[in-house]
Amino acid sequence: MQEFILGSDAMHSIMKEIDQVAKYDVNVLIMGESGTGKELLAKIIHLQSPRAENPFVPVNCGILSGLMFEDKLFGHEKGSFTGAINREKGCLEIADKGTLFLDEVAEIPLENQVDFLRVLEDFQFIRIGGSTPIKVDIRLISATNKDLRNEVRQGLFRDDLFYRLHLVPIYIPPLRKRISVIPKMVDRFLDQLAANHKKPKPTVKLEVIDIFSRYNWPGNVRELKNLVERVFILNNHEVINVEHLPSDFLWHFKDPPRMMNLEEVKQSAETKAILNILHRVGGDKKRAAEILDISPRTLRHKLNKYNIKVDRKGEPVRQDKT
Ligand SMILES: Nc1ncnc2c1ncn2[C@@H]1O[C@H](COP(=O)(O)OP(=O)(O)O)[C@@H](O)[C@H]1O
Ligand SMILES: [Mg+2]
Repeated sequence: MQEFILGSDAMHSIMKEIDQVAKYDVNVLIMGESGTGKELLAKIIHLQSPRAENPFVPVNCGILSGLMFEDKLFGHEKGSFTGAINREKGCLEIADKGTLFLDEVAEIPLENQVDFLRVLEDFQFIRIGGSTPIKVDIRLISATNKDLRNEVRQGLFRDDLFYRLHLVPIYIPPLRKRISVIPKMVDRFLDQLAANHKKPKPTVKLEVIDIFSRYNWPGNVRELKNLVERVFILNNHEVINVEHLPSDFLWHFKDPPRMMNLEEVKQSAETKAILNILHRVGGDKKRAAEILDISPRTLRHKLNKYNIKVDRKGEPVRQDKT
């Protein structure tokens, strides 16, 4: 069984809850951003349940609507619509005695929610084009990255269906809220990769973990896992340090322009203006002072103070190599 890597106390308490929930046939609704491990958790619940020997059937509700949704769930009889060449079982039948995992459940169109709710009443349905009711025994686990309660409030999700699905709600926090798990995850992912690819496992520099901990991981664990895989595959170094991370990732850490105080802002603006004028007047300091409406003495003072050096033609002299 694939391991669900824990780290924070919050995740440990979720796992305790899972141990308990898995034993009973209650419907579970897993909430969390994309990539937080909802499907993995659903699988683990299934595998810890008395249904473990029977199928775990995931359905992505995000891509199904209307007849396609019905077909996917209820299946069809031969010849029931154009293209229905054979009798085909739907997911409900395939998942009989097992677990049906409804991914992106918030996306079920309202019209389909009614049919679906009816099935949940007694777990009976008819294949499209069929006439005999079929009874199944399934456990439901749903997942969503949306605030389903809010969808209900907005009238996009039926409240009766919502209450059916969310008997036991479980919320998985985003990775950025549990960064303490990152070192362990990186380590375990590298273990798996090394085993799968028969390649030595590199060690990871602390700076890398540090940079990982500062990133906000919009794609959550999926993004971390993919990044670790990329780095593992593309490098043969024994030690992974920051330079081995892909440039598109490091790009997120480019320092924003340094904050300046007012004095520095003034200095920077004045330096630019003085250099500009000196260039335009070909280095004639008297003329430059006139244009800037300051005395030649003040200009000399500023050139000194700001350490501005120009040649005879008024072009700045590079002096960054000291
Ligand atoms: N806690 C975890 N431990 C180990 N792997 C994880 C964990 N959370 C997520 N993953 C991995 O990250 C990827 C995305 O997880 P998934 O369950 O598909 O997320 P979701 O369904 O929330 O989008 C999968 O490869 C999964 O195995
Ligand atoms: Mg998913």
